[in-house]
Amino acid sequence: MTGARPSSVTATAPAKVNLCLGVGPARPDGFHALATVYQAVGLLDRVTVRDADDVTVTVRAARDAAPATVAGVPTDEANIAVRAARLLAGHHGASRGAAIHIDKAIPVAGGLAGGSADAAAALLACDALWQLGTPWDELLSLAGQLGSDVPFALVGGTAVGSGRGEVVTPLICGGDYWWVVLESSVGLATPEVYRAFDVLAQSRSVPEPEVPAPLLEALRAQDVEKLGAALENDLQPAALHLRPELRSALELGGSRAPQVHGVLLSGSGPSCLFLCGSHADAVQLAAELDDAGHGPVAVAPGPVPGARLLPPEDV
Ligand code: C5P
Repeated sequence: MTGARPSSVTATAPAKVNLCLGVGPARPDGFHALATVYQAVGLLDRVTVRDADDVTVTVRAARDAAPATVAGVPTDEANIAVRAARLLAGHHGASRGAAIHIDKAIPVAGGLAGGSADAAAALLACDALWQLGTPWDELLSLAGQLGSDVPFALVGGTAVGSGRGEVVTPLICGGDYWWVVLESSVGLATPEVYRAFDVLAQSRSVPEPEVPAPLLEALRAQDVEKLGAALENDLQPAALHLRPELRSALELGGSRAPQVHGVLLSGSGPSCLFLCGSHADAVQLAAELDDAGHGPVAVAPGPVPGARLLPPEDV
């Protein structure tokens, strides 16, 4: 590539929700086969990388995020943005450094793929900082090595996820949806939820997962009411088994028809999602949940694009 080498680059990446999350039996590698529809929503982490001798990371809560939640994010080699930077450098056989700074707006360990968003943004930002010009298909492959949800954080929009979630097929369906995202002060570890799924599944045979046809029809028709009725999450019983107190918020949202079209747990939880027909309905439900002592609550539109480099003037 040509042009002046930037001394810092910023990228954003969105949270994801799973409109359906079909989970199959555990595979020999320990992962579960998934049939999911992802949607990227307007809760964005922002990752800035600066020239440095080694790869390091700092993390701060973005203005609206609860500061306590970022305390659980590792600031060493275990941080997925650090792993992303090292993987990208290694892919090019290069030894490179970057001081990574993450502004977190996405709840930590919330079932919203916040870590995956940071990895996707770090891949894009380091690629630009180091002027590597990595082809898109190679970035997607590196993303899949970092985590099951990372490729989707690059792609964004609405997309089918298969394999263990890392095989992403975009759906050209548009639409304009409003989500209320109810955070939980205590996160849930994804492996723990999958383990609970396996325990609950012991008494039955788990079929190969499929994306339900009514969900795809609702998306094609951009019909929020039908979409709400088609939402489903196979991890929800496992997560509610671990965190039964989440039921009351789900019930409160479920009782708010016709403003709320659907209610479900986000991914492996514990964040809860409420699909609303308009921004005004979403804001009203968020206020009600807040008044009822649930929270913190965010209102987010979907779908939104995947990870993006910010132009220098927007940084
Ligand atoms: O891929 P990722 O690092 O996000 O996965 C975290 C954990 O979630 C895995 O180690 C595994 O325990 C579980 N998982 C799974 N099946 C998937 C995705 C994740 O069992 N398809």
